[in-house]
Amino acid sequence: MKQTPDDLAIFGGDPAFREKLHVGRPNIGDRQRLLTRINDLLDRKWLTNNGPYVRELEQRLAAMIGVRHCIATGNGTVALEIAGRALGLKGEVIVPAMTFIATAHALQWQGITPVFCDIDPTSHNIDPARIERLITPRTTGIVGVHVWGRPCDVEALAKIAQRQNLKLLYDAAHAFACSYKGRMIGNFGDAEVFSFHATKFFNTLEGGAVVTNNDELASKVRLMRNFGFADYDDVVSVGTNGKMNEVSAAMGLTSLESLDRFIAINYRNYKQYRQELEGIPGVQLVTYDEAERCNYQHIILEVNPTTAGLSRDRLKDILWAENVLARRYFYPGCHRMEPYRSDMAGAEPGLPETERLATQLLSLPTGTAIGSNQIRQICQIIRLAIAYSQSAERQRMFAGCIQPTPLPDQKSS
Ligand SMILES: Cc1ncc(COP(=O)(O)O)c(C=O)c1O
Repeated sequence: MKQTPDDLAIFGGDPAFREKLHVGRPNIGDRQRLLTRINDLLDRKWLTNNGPYVRELEQRLAAMIGVRHCIATGNGTVALEIAGRALGLKGEVIVPAMTFIATAHALQWQGITPVFCDIDPTSHNIDPARIERLITPRTTGIVGVHVWGRPCDVEALAKIAQRQNLKLLYDAAHAFACSYKGRMIGNFGDAEVFSFHATKFFNTLEGGAVVTNNDELASKVRLMRNFGFADYDDVVSVGTNGKMNEVSAAMGLTSLESLDRFIAINYRNYKQYRQELEGIPGVQLVTYDEAERCNYQHIILEVNPTTAGLSRDRLKDILWAENVLARRYFYPGCHRMEPYRSDMAGAEPGLPETERLATQLLSLPTGTAIGSNQIRQICQIIRLAIAYSQSAERQRMFAGCIQPTPLPDQKSS
């Protein structure tokens, strides 16, 4: 355990960890159960195309969420594309910029313009109070994102969508197994979309799903997921290949059996981070409403540079030197990435809260790959870094000893 700032790797100490600690290390359920299922599907020689495991997974997910339809897909991005298309989104759609780039790309990919809306500084979700001023005659919908798994203001968004006759889609990539006022995420808006990417606490290797209580919409989504095929040789709509394969579904069924354990570990980690970081000036953990169901899969630190005496980016560099690969989610914000950055042609984005939080949030490792001892050490590094940055010697830290570290070859979702 590091005792003084001089022990920090950035000042020449040994890194706290020999192996790199990643954000989003996959949770893996019972390996034997998975291998048994994979053997079964190989014996069955039914590898994809709405196989028995995909159908079983869809039924289990729908039952768990309490939703009429669950349509499993190859990933969350294609689920967003299909759901948006099935809803008839076109022209302009209002989305937050504080999200993973897939939310915006899923629209742009289909010739729909994402119109970026600012977020509520407390919830980090799209701010309903700022939506209506962005509506034009071309607006057809709103995509809300339940960032970090914390639900959007679903009541306010439903009112706006109804008043303005807009479709309402949720990107619930972070919010699988979460609830709002006791109702599971998946039941809100016209449809909701999950991602089961390997970095999510519940994964199907790659995967996703569209869930909805709308029968007609569900039929459209099913057709579109499979090239528009209604039957052999009978294509009735435009479609794509959005199917989930059987190995992914086998992984999903196996992960589901460990879901409670994954959540319990995430919760334990979250409680420990909260406890250990309490009282450290300038850092605040994003908290969850424990009265709701919650997956606790994101440990998000908000760094106030004035109070902490160092910036989020400095803290990130200090952690990286210790092999703690904390991530800057969602930096710099979708609006500052291509093609959206160029489309703005230098105009002021008008997203002050997004801009501020994009420079202040840091995602820390959690999940089954992290133990209590590691969390204690990570928090001690943060404590030492901030104590040092507030000390008389802080000039040394700001005098350029800290070299920016390159990003790993890892996605940012
Ligand atoms: C908010 C958000 N939306 C969409 C996606 C896209 O999901 P996928 O990677 O399964 O395509 C992700 C994660 O990857 C995400 O975090």
